[in-house]
Amino acid sequence: MASNVSRDAPVGVFDSGVGGLSVLGEIRMLLPNESLLYIADSGHVPYGEKSPEFIRERCRVLAAFLLNQGAKALVLACNTATVAGVAELRELYPQLPIIGMEPAVKPAAAATKVGVVGVLATTGTLKSAKFAALLDRFACDVRVITQPCPGLVERIEAGDLSSEQTRTLLQGFVTPLLEQGCDTLILGCTHYPFIKPLLQTLVPPSVSLIDTGAAVARQLQRLLEERSLLANGPARPAQFWSSGNVTQLENLLTLLWGDRSLIQSFDNIESDC
Ligand code: DGL
Repeated sequence: MASNVSRDAPVGVFDSGVGGLSVLGEIRMLLPNESLLYIADSGHVPYGEKSPEFIRERCRVLAAFLLNQGAKALVLACNTATVAGVAELRELYPQLPIIGMEPAVKPAAAATKVGVVGVLATTGTLKSAKFAALLDRFACDVRVITQPCPGLVERIEAGDLSSEQTRTLLQGFVTPLLEQGCDTLILGCTHYPFIKPLLQTLVPPSVSLIDTGAAVARQLQRLLEERSLLANGPARPAQFWSSGNVTQLENLLTLLWGDRSLIQSFDNIESDC
């Protein structure tokens, strides 16, 4: 990245869909001076069951698009994209602050009282070598039970955070974890914080739910600070793009973000990059 990059340049954030808005919200809260760009790659959601090669290609395309828009830093607001693509992006853009995310195994291992932790995440995240390494590093002293959640991201993308159908699906994922004695559940996908209220109705109050959105925002703050890139503000309105149905993103933004801001389609992004 050029050394003359402006501190008031925007931060680029992407996810397979609207899940990353849970991270964007934490960034907005911690760093209100930062201007934010967000891509929902909804034309390709879910990433969870797709090949690492496919996801890596999406990461390259989305990163290039955000950099063309002037992003001074990138946040992969997606666990699945991070395990597949963050290493390659760091090789491609060695000077650029790039923040990925991973399931909160370390804080969960520290938090569990009974020594049993459950992880709700996508198949792609749970199958990855990066996740296995995370367990080796931080979970030697606890039992970790993993639970892929196929179909859950699709419910959230449909804006269905609380129907009977979503409840039944979620219950099917959570019950085995509770039966095995977990007292700490990791929300290892950025979509899942949006169903936290529903999840809380399915688990006893003694079970802690842990996600990493706030930690990612703090890591972004650290990296920008180190490079003297924290914005002076005021922030410009957040800008949003979807590779899928823009009307659907507008509706979801009203539900999950609170305003429709400025939404654009980037359907032709592939031909631009
Ligand atoms: N929200 C993403 C994650 O954190 C991806 C979900 C998906 O598209 O399957 O893993």
